[in-house]
Amino acid sequence: MTGRNLARFYQVAQEIWSQLPPAARFRPVEDGKVLARHAPLMETWTEELVQGFYDTLFGHPATRAVFREGERPAREKTLRDWYLRTLRGPFNGQYFAWQALVGLVHLRRGVTNAMMAAMWNWVTGVVAGKARESLPLEEARALEDAFRRLAFTVMALIAEEYLEAYLEALALSWQEDPQTFVHKAQEMAATLLAQLSPS
Ligand code: HEM
Repeated sequence: MTGRNLARFYQVAQEIWSQLPPAARFRPVEDGKVLARHAPLMETWTEELVQGFYDTLFGHPATRAVFREGERPAREKTLRDWYLRTLRGPFNGQYFAWQALVGLVHLRRGVTNAMMAAMWNWVTGVVAGKARESLPLEEARALEDAFRRLAFTVMALIAEEYLEAYLEALALSWQEDPQTFVHKAQEMAATLLAQLSPS
């Protein structure tokens, strides 16, 4: 993915990032340092993580159905490249713009946010388990914390762009302004909720 292709997503990522309270999001400088310190160790986990990720997805009918015949090697490469780029940093605008773009890529392929969030849970679990096996407790905790903040931040970027792209795609196909569509969705949500209430 080139910088030019990502241009629109710099702004998208910035807008989503600004919704996340600083105390609750990834800290590029501090957390980036922790990850950089452990990048050589995390690199040794790559193949186990990549194989486990796809064994998990291919072992469950709903997630296996996303993939095309013979696609697994290409997807393993995507995940390997993503994992190595992630642990090596840098955590800059280009990285976060790319993470937002994943929402649009997943939308095209019918990968739901539910599937994506569950696999983040799986990835953070593996990283935490491996960190505890390999590092003194305090360092393992520091790595787990930094990686968890990264996980939730990237999850937020992917999920939010997925939703925005979904709405935008529907609005454009109905020749509506996406913002008008957002307001309509809010109004309809109020109507649906009113229908649910007992009074
Ligand atoms: C931890 C959660 C996940 C992360 C971080 C992640 C990340 C990514 C990334 C970085 C790409 C490449 C985007 C690009 O540059 O083109 C991608 C593509 C893709 N992902 Fe995910 N993904 C996750 C979960 C999933 C799940 C749960 C599935 C399926 C059930 C899935 C299926 C796919 C597919 C099929 C593509 C390729 C789309 C295409 O190029 O046609 N991903 N993902």
